[in-house]
Amino acid sequence: MRSSVFLLCVVGLSLTQIQFSSADLVDQTCKQTPNYDLCVKTLRADPRSSKADVTGLALVMVDTIKAKATATLDRINGLLGTTPDPKTKAALSHFVELYDNAVLKADIPSAIEALKKGNPKFAEQGINDAANEADSCDRAFGGASPITSFNRNVSDLSRVASAIIRLLS
Ligand SMILES: *[C@@H]1O[C@H](CO)[C@@H](O)[C@H](O)[C@H]1NC(C)=O
Repeated sequence: MRSSVFLLCVVGLSLTQIQFSSADLVDQTCKQTPNYDLCVKTLRADPRSSKADVTGLALVMVDTIKAKATATLDRINGLLGTTPDPKTKAALSHFVELYDNAVLKADIPSAIEALKKGNPKFAEQGINDAANEADSCDRAFGGASPITSFNRNVSDLSRVASAIIRLLS
C-alpha cells in the first residue's frame, strides 16, 4: 500500500516535470525567434508540441506552414475562377505555380525530410525559400491583394520556423 502511494507520487511528479519542461521548451525556443507570440500560439495549438524536442517543434511549425500554404493555394485558385481581369489572372497563375510547385512540392517536403535526417542547414534553406516566395507574391500585389494576409502569414511562420531550425545547427 505504502509503496504504491510512493510510486504514484513518483510517477505524478515526473509527469508534472515533463509537462513543465516541455512548456519551458516552447517558451525558450520561441524567445529565440523573431515573433514570440506567433510562435507560442502556433506551437501550443498542436498537441505534439507538449512532448516534442526542438526538432519536433520545428516539424510542427513546418506542418503549419504547409497548411497555410495549402489554404493560400486554394484561395488563389478560387480567385482565378472569379477574376475577369487578364492581368490579375496572369499574376495569380504565376503564384499558383509558386505555391504549388515551389513551396508545396519542393521547399516544404525537402525541409521536412532534411529535419528528419538531421540536416538543419538544408531544412533552413528550404524554409527561407518558402518565405522569399511568399514575400515576392505579396510584393507583386503591392501588399494589398485578397491574398496579402495569406502571404504574410506564410512568410511570418517561415521566419519563425527558420529561427527554430537555426537552433539545431
Ligand atoms: C493571418 O494571421 C492572423 C493572425 O494570426 C489571423 O488573424 C488571420 O486569420 C490569418 N489569415 C489567414 C488568411 O490565415
